[in-house]
Amino acid sequence: MIILDNIQVVFGKGTPLQKQALNGVSLTIEQGSFVTVIGSNGAGKSTLLGVLAGDVLPSGGRVTIGNTEVTRKGTAARAGLVARVFQDPLAGSCGALSIEENLALAARRGESRGLTPALGSRRRAHFRERIAELNLGLEDRMRDRMDLLSGGQRQAVSLVMATLAGSKVLLLDEHTAALDPGMAEFIMNLTQKIVAERKLTTLMVTHSMRQALDFGHRTIMLHGGEIVLDVAGDSRKTLEVEDLIAMFRRIRGQTLDDDALLIG
Ligand SMILES: Nc1ncnc2c1ncn2[C@@H]1O[C@H](COP(=O)(O)OP(=O)(O)O)[C@@H](O)[C@H]1O
Ligand SMILES: [Mg+2]
Repeated sequence: MIILDNIQVVFGKGTPLQKQALNGVSLTIEQGSFVTVIGSNGAGKSTLLGVLAGDVLPSGGRVTIGNTEVTRKGTAARAGLVARVFQDPLAGSCGALSIEENLALAARRGESRGLTPALGSRRRAHFRERIAELNLGLEDRMRDRMDLLSGGQRQAVSLVMATLAGSKVLLLDEHTAALDPGMAEFIMNLTQKIVAERKLTTLMVTHSMRQALDFGHRTIMLHGGEIVLDVAGDSRKTLEVEDLIAMFRRIRGQTLDDDALLIG
C-alpha cells in the first residue's frame, strides 16, 4: 500500500520562479492496484512520481510505501522499494554497457554492494531467460551494447530491469510516448502482463486518454498540483474519452484545440 498524506512540493522557493508543483495531494493506493495518471503539461504528474521515487523530497506531508515511512529517504534508500521507467528510452539504462550488464546492475538496485556487475553463468542464464520471454530475439544479443537497440527494444528491457530487484511499486512516466504506435502497443501489453504477474502496485502517467481508461483500475487527474478527479469501479467503466476531454476543458476554464490533447 502507498499512502501520500497532504504532500506539498515547492520548487525554487524564495526565487522569482517559485512554483508550487504539488499542493496538498493525499492519495491511498491499495497493494496491487494499477492507477493511471492524467493531466495537462505542468500539472504535477512527474513530480508526483518523483515524490514516490525519492528524487523529489516534499516540503510538507508524509510518504509511506508498504510499512515504511520514506518521506525523508532519497532514491538510493528506496531503490529496493520502487522502480521507474521514463519516457526517454535512453534514460533508464546505460548505453555503453551490454544488455546483460544493465540487467546485472538493475538486479542490484537497493543493495549496498559495489557497482561491478558480477555475471556468473547462473545469473547469465537467468537474465537470458527473462529477455527471451519478450519474444524480441534479444536473448541472442545479451552482450550487445544497449545503445544498439531501438527505442522500443530499450523500453522492453527497461521494464524487465524494473522487475529484477523485486520492488513492489512500478512508476511509469509516459513510457510509451516516444514510441511508434505498434511498439507502444507492444510495450503496453508487456506492461500489463508484468504488472499482473508480479502483482505490482503501479502508477502510470499517460497523455493518452484512451490508455488512461483502458488500462488499470483507477484514474486520477491532476491540475495545478491538485487531484481534481479520482475515479474507479463502475463510475470509471462508464467514462468515455470524450468525458475526460470535457473535464479537461471545464477545469482549464477555456476551450482547447482538440489537437492540444492526444486522445489516441
Ligand atoms: N526541478 C524543477 N525545478 C523547478 N520547477 C520544476 C521542476 N520540476 C518541475 N517543475 C515545475 O513544476 C510544475 C510541475 O511539473 P511536472 O510535475 O513535471 O508536470 P507534468 O509532469 O504534469 O507535466 C511545472 O510548472 C514545472 O515547470
Ligand atoms: Mg511529466
